[in-house]
Amino acid sequence: MRAEDAPMIRLEDYRPSDWLIDTVDLDILLDANRTRVRSLLKLRPNPQGRQGAPLVLDGDELALGSIALDDVPLAPTLYTSTPQSLTLPSPPDRAFSLRIETELNPAANTKLMGLYRSSGVYCTQCEADGFRRITYFLDRPDVMSVYTVRLEAVKAEAPVLLANGNLVASGELPGGERHFAVWHDPHPKPAYLFAIVGGRLDHIRQPYVTAEGRKVELAVYVEPGKAGRAGWALDSLVRCMRWDERVFGRNYDLDVFNVVAVSDFNMGAMENKGLNIFNDKYVLADPLTASDGDYISIEAIIAHEYFHNWTGNRITCRDWFQLCLKEGLTVFRDQEFSSDERSRPVKRISDVRTLRSTQFSEDAGPLAHPVRPRAYKEINNFYTPTVYEKGAEVIRMLKVLTGDDAFARGMDLYFERCDGTAATIEEFLDCFIETSGQDLTHFARWYEQAGTPTVVASGHYDAAAGSYTLELAQSTPPTPGQEEKAPVVIPVALGLVGKTGDLPLNSISPALKAGGVVVLDQPSLNLTFTGLSEAPTPSLLRGFSAPVRLELDLGDAELLRLFTADSDSFNRWQAFQTVATRALVRAGKSGNLSELAEKARELAAALADFLAGPAMADPAFAAQVLRLPSAADIAREIGKDVDPDAVFAAHRALSRAIGAALAEPLSALQVQLRQHGPYSPAAGPAGQRALRNEALGLLALALPVEASALAQARYAEADNLTDRLAALAAMTLIPGEAREALIGRFAELYADEPLVLDKWLMAQALIPEAGTLDRVKALMASPAFSLGNPNRVRALIGGFSANLTQFNRADGAGYGFIAGIVTELDRANPQVASRLLGAFKTWRMLEPGRRDLARSALRMVAATPGLSRDVSDIAARSLA
Ligand code: PHE
Ligand code: ZN
Repeated sequence: MRAEDAPMIRLEDYRPSDWLIDTVDLDILLDANRTRVRSLLKLRPNPQGRQGAPLVLDGDELALGSIALDDVPLAPTLYTSTPQSLTLPSPPDRAFSLRIETELNPAANTKLMGLYRSSGVYCTQCEADGFRRITYFLDRPDVMSVYTVRLEAVKAEAPVLLANGNLVASGELPGGERHFAVWHDPHPKPAYLFAIVGGRLDHIRQPYVTAEGRKVELAVYVEPGKAGRAGWALDSLVRCMRWDERVFGRNYDLDVFNVVAVSDFNMGAMENKGLNIFNDKYVLADPLTASDGDYISIEAIIAHEYFHNWTGNRITCRDWFQLCLKEGLTVFRDQEFSSDERSRPVKRISDVRTLRSTQFSEDAGPLAHPVRPRAYKEINNFYTPTVYEKGAEVIRMLKVLTGDDAFARGMDLYFERCDGTAATIEEFLDCFIETSGQDLTHFARWYEQAGTPTVVASGHYDAAAGSYTLELAQSTPPTPGQEEKAPVVIPVALGLVGKTGDLPLNSISPALKAGGVVVLDQPSLNLTFTGLSEAPTPSLLRGFSAPVRLELDLGDAELLRLFTADSDSFNRWQAFQTVATRALVRAGKSGNLSELAEKARELAAALADFLAGPAMADPAFAAQVLRLPSAADIAREIGKDVDPDAVFAAHRALSRAIGAALAEPLSALQVQLRQHGPYSPAAGPAGQRALRNEALGLLALALPVEASALAQARYAEADNLTDRLAALAAMTLIPGEAREALIGRFAELYADEPLVLDKWLMAQALIPEAGTLDRVKALMASPAFSLGNPNRVRALIGGFSANLTQFNRADGAGYGFIAGIVTELDRANPQVASRLLGAFKTWRMLEPGRRDLARSALRMVAATPGLSRDVSDIAARSLA
């Protein structure tokens, strides 16, 4: 079948499996090229399915070795097998067993789905449908089975043998060359959570006792020699386990919990039951090879995968349309954990930045889809910011709307009622309907309707009456396949800010709920607040209470007042960003930079006060304030006929002007925030580094000569990767020999550290200069790069595709380059290729010239013969 002809899979076509598999016994003989898999399945008819139905097992690039039914070899006339399926047209009308043998070539598996080898280590990746690349199976999440797995390998090649669950037996085989291990997982699970690992690995471990008293052995496995870098991951694991016990009442449920880091991995990490497999980028950390940002991501992703044990594994998804049931909820849980571990406002700001840059842009383009899609051709293309990040926002809104107490009881009810099942969004929401007594039918529209709603707010103060009237109106732009949009339920957390702080919220409107939340569930609504002796400034969408765009009728002066006076930290940050964004949008559209100069003075004055005052109390927050909206943020705000060069020029001009106006305080920070004592990844010192380095970035644009000296000194004296990278990043903004020299020194220093070189590759790929494409092509030939490793590809090629001016070169060379790599990479690894093609998701917002060039590049991809389903799906939807 040609990829374009792949069938559309639809939510409405869901029906329960006709067959169930109660137990799976696997016997796997690991070998680089000829791994033998023997599978024993105990099947029975599903009482919920059709009786007398054929048995159709899924496969993917499989070859059947042998097959026996109830231990008797099956006659060839009784089944058919292809690489994609194994069919028994008339299986017995009762429970029976099947023995199936397949043979695999892990070393040749470049898709990194199923069983493969990463730097000599055998590992698996089965979500979403990789298990069918190991053996024929009912590879769907609502078929849950108890697994027993026997692994056998040459001991020297794979001294470590791991699988899901608990170790029940192990030993050497006669002759002493080979050994085996048997693992049993008592928890029924879908095949996508199956995992094994075999290889030479070092590990660190720690005993843990759950709140319920279960003794658990925790371990983190890494490549030999890297155990010294596993401590932070293990430490994060312990902290998130305690947190889940305390906050969600969730305890771990096996005797061991293993985390394994591998260097070739398509995604971030995977929550396989009791055996999480990670991209090593999200495990390994020490001060000289991981940045503060890495420490933060490791903590968050360790927590994310661990939290899946309840939200994903114990309760899994009925079908892949329910993906957000586990992903949105688990992202919400990991965000809450990080907020509690660090600064809640700073975490919120950084999450909202990510949401806007990745999800809002997805929602505004051809790949827009609902949090719960209704149809797909390739499920791997739906592990998206919409399912993950917007999915988490929907949970956050649910919490705001139902209240902390009903939300907590709703979660408890969900854990109790759905434990051990493959559930749906409806079953999840039912729990909150029960505990809150609210009708959530309208709220559920967030799961069905794509697109980012816009809320327009306008207010009027009546001095004589002492009242303030606020009007809120919502609308959602059309998205592919959804022309008409209905209003959604938008919780708008708000405050009215007066001269000396928040004013009381008095309103008889039923739309105003406890805690200052206005529920906008109609196209528009009017609300009057009384008892106000001064004109208030509204502070809307506090804490970013809903994933919407907000249009305010506030002037810049009022916004800058919120920047200093709002009691909500998020909105203080937002107010400043909004003023900067407005100025950049105007200049980016008109190309007129003169008006920007005046805004720069206003913004710089506000920042100068801020830096002289409150900034020092919370440097991490101050760093977020200093970081202006990115050029890509501005392009997205403009939204149509975007000229990336004009946007970039405006962004540069504003940054430079602010940097120049604040040269003195920004330089002072370089001295003031200099750290003494050993490196610590804790929030406090990391915040200081962030502020100091953010300031250095502004100086690099405004005073390149001075900043170049500062950056080189920073690099020389740094005792940690964060400062070294900040120095490198600052230098990339200053063309010249010093920059090239530093780039060279960095590469020498880290020649044996691929994860650090990824950052070096990316820093160069992001240089906003015409020479960057050639630089990237040259780097592809360097030993630091490999098209076979997803991290290398994402760093260099992915980095380039995020370079606003160079990916979007006016001559189209950036598009042609990415399109060419996508088609080449697709032959080896379709998932990584199709993610790379996602770079085109905003092509329709470009000015006509670039739009045409981007379209041609996409057409070139779409017309390539033999495309994978992954890439052809993205190409087709992007062009539709
Ligand atoms: N389920 C993983 C997570 O979010 C992501 C993932 C999806 C990993 C598909 C691999 C393949 O934690
Ligand atoms: Zn997840």
